[in-house]
Amino acid sequence: MPLRKIKEKIFSVGTIDWERRLFDELVPLPDGTSYNSYLILGNEKTALIDTVDPAKTHELINNLNNLGIKRIDYIIVNHAEQDHSGSISDVLELYPMAKVVANAKCKSMLMDLLHIPEDKFIVIEDRQELSLGDKTLEFILTPWVHWPETMVTFLKEDKILFSCDLFGSHFATSRLYANEDAKVLEDAKRYYAEIMMPFRLQIRKYLDWIEKLTPEIIAPSHGPLWKNPDFIIKAHREWVSDSLKNIVLIPYISMHHSTKQMAEYLADALVKRGIEASLFNLTVTDIGKFAIALVDAPTMVLGAPTVLAGTHPAAIYAAYLTNALRPKLKYVGIIGSYGWGGKAVDHIKAQLSTLKVELLNPVLIKGLPREEDFKKLDNLAEEILNKHKELGLI
Ligand code: FEO
Repeated sequence: MPLRKIKEKIFSVGTIDWERRLFDELVPLPDGTSYNSYLILGNEKTALIDTVDPAKTHELINNLNNLGIKRIDYIIVNHAEQDHSGSISDVLELYPMAKVVANAKCKSMLMDLLHIPEDKFIVIEDRQELSLGDKTLEFILTPWVHWPETMVTFLKEDKILFSCDLFGSHFATSRLYANEDAKVLEDAKRYYAEIMMPFRLQIRKYLDWIEKLTPEIIAPSHGPLWKNPDFIIKAHREWVSDSLKNIVLIPYISMHHSTKQMAEYLADALVKRGIEASLFNLTVTDIGKFAIALVDAPTMVLGAPTVLAGTHPAAIYAAYLTNALRPKLKYVGIIGSYGWGGKAVDHIKAQLSTLKVELLNPVLIKGLPREEDFKKLDNLAEEILNKHKELGLI
């Protein structure tokens, strides 16, 4: 992707990955992604903010060449993860005078992950400033957004916040700035759900002082930039808040349609009681959509049948992922069918160890559901109705 000018002497020099469909070999990227890198030309020094994924190094280098950049003084590293740091060694080879500017934790990680020599570093502290002459960078440490070394960089004179993973979206677009439409918001929410949700409480804390900076532009490391920072800050305020929606997620897997019948019956029983229900067949669902739904859901009922005397691995995976993403969930139910015995409750409970959830009465049945089993599902729907009333959602 050709370089793009953000403001006088400030350029986007990163790359767009239109084809990538998985991140960390785990997270689905239906709309690709980008690795944003920014070049700032001060009247005394030049700084490159973050680099790109190693697979795209040549595009970054092309952009720097096309700008005729003969000297880079500082490579600012907001985050050691390789999708942003992976081209540092190549940039250092091209610009051997450059210093890598990072906090102490980031330095240590870069030495481990990329074998960057110690003498290449300038180590900075929280709130330290670095002058480029007529432009000043301020570094603000934001641990655990996404890794322990993460930080953001504020260009004071131009009021641009280079927010690294925060406020990003996995969205390949040639547009420099985000449209403020539903699609952009869904991509940003997907990204938040998949990457940032485990760090909800840290982000909540950082939003306050980010607002105090009054940035005019937010330039994240993935996806388009935000020309109206209020739009994306407001969306994050909602996502990280404690507010919940009157919705029940029903991820399920079903080999012979018994658990499927249960899941669908429960969904109908909930809708009859004025509760929204979202079914996710785990064999075909986009797990990112499930993650998005987890952002606002108070209740999940997992449809977990038994296979080979154990809980189906797809249900275990859904529980494991839910636990890892640390959503705001308050209640978890377990339903499912078995042939000759099952330990779904113990298996699922063991996967949810970091969540502070209350377990609803499980409905585990033998074979195809009978009339009395549907009654148990009605009781479960009634139990959820009461819980949602207690939460003030109905
Ligand atoms: Fe985009 Fe945590 O790396």
